[in-house]
Amino acid sequence: MRIIGTGSMLPQKMVTNEQLSQFVDTSDEWIRERTGIETRCVLSTESLEELATEAAKQALDDAGILPTQLDYIICSNMVNEYVIPSMASIVGGHIGSQCPAYDLNAACTGFLYAMDMAEALLQSGRAENILIISAEAPTRIVDWNDRRTCVLFGDGAAAVVVTRGNALRSIKVSSKSDKSVLYYRRSLEPTPFLIRDKNTGPLCMNGQEVFKSAVTSSLRDMQYVLKQANVNKDDVTYFVLHQANLRIIDFIKSHFGATDEQFPINVNRYGNTSSVSIPLLLDELNKNGKLRKGDLLVFSAFGAGFTSAACVIEWNKSAE
Ligand code: UT7
Repeated sequence: MRIIGTGSMLPQKMVTNEQLSQFVDTSDEWIRERTGIETRCVLSTESLEELATEAAKQALDDAGILPTQLDYIICSNMVNEYVIPSMASIVGGHIGSQCPAYDLNAACTGFLYAMDMAEALLQSGRAENILIISAEAPTRIVDWNDRRTCVLFGDGAAAVVVTRGNALRSIKVSSKSDKSVLYYRRSLEPTPFLIRDKNTGPLCMNGQEVFKSAVTSSLRDMQYVLKQANVNKDDVTYFVLHQANLRIIDFIKSHFGATDEQFPINVNRYGNTSSVSIPLLLDELNKNGKLRKGDLLVFSAFGAGFTSAACVIEWNKSAE
């Protein structure tokens, strides 16, 4: 695969730590120190499908291809208003494409799982151009009275268009089942045979356990993909990590002995946007002219499951 276009769209409403401290027992100081987050964008007047559609349109424009040239749309999404149809199908309708479209849920790791699927479709010859979207609204599944979770997340959408090419040097996805540390149980309809389950939502997280798993899996995955790709960490232009917590990113950065420039961040502005965070940061780098042909990028993500993934990809947007 080769990435040929990026796009992103965030909700208009930006919420500061100070604003949160007006209705939940927290402080700007605690949130900044423990997470690095200063603001986040939350859905209010717009819908997630509108954000996803705009991100998709931007990515197609940037790629210079038409929706009718797409062979698949894969959307990484945990929750939205619709269980069916899929977000990918909904966005496909909005942008005017008629290709197969489906959603994939690997929590915060979803974007890299979608890249892995896209690579398989491209390699098998079943596809030429694929739109990958990440669209997430974690603020709709947290308890806004629970300071341990509600301060961490933000909503948004980001997208990339990938086509055939040989920029992806290596990719690794994994999953180790543990539903105790991070989960959200949705409420289903009662039936004549089953009463409504009482143990549903909001999001539950054991922050410290997730923190430990995140650091361990990310370091392991990145070392693996770098070795597979035969790339030295010093030759990596950017490590584009899942933006969950600045402390996690700093820990990984110091373990790698890498520079600040190699670890771009935006968790301070957008909080944890789940599977959106990597394509969102990539789109920022692209829009700000920070990416040069031949740059080596490492992506690394982790999330509920417990899932994790990493890849090494060369930035080679214009034709080879
Ligand atoms: O995308 C993947 C999903 N999630 C993650 O990656 C999250 C990974 N984990 C983390 O980022 C961190 O564990 C957190 C930011 C969630 C928590 O930071 P921590 O340093 O692990 O704090 P803690 O859970 O050990 O809590 C320390 C104290 C507790 O008070 P006591 O028991 O010591 O009195 C908490 O009740 O901080 C308290 N606390 C808060 N205080 C003010 C927890 N949240 C808040 C808050 N404001 N928002």
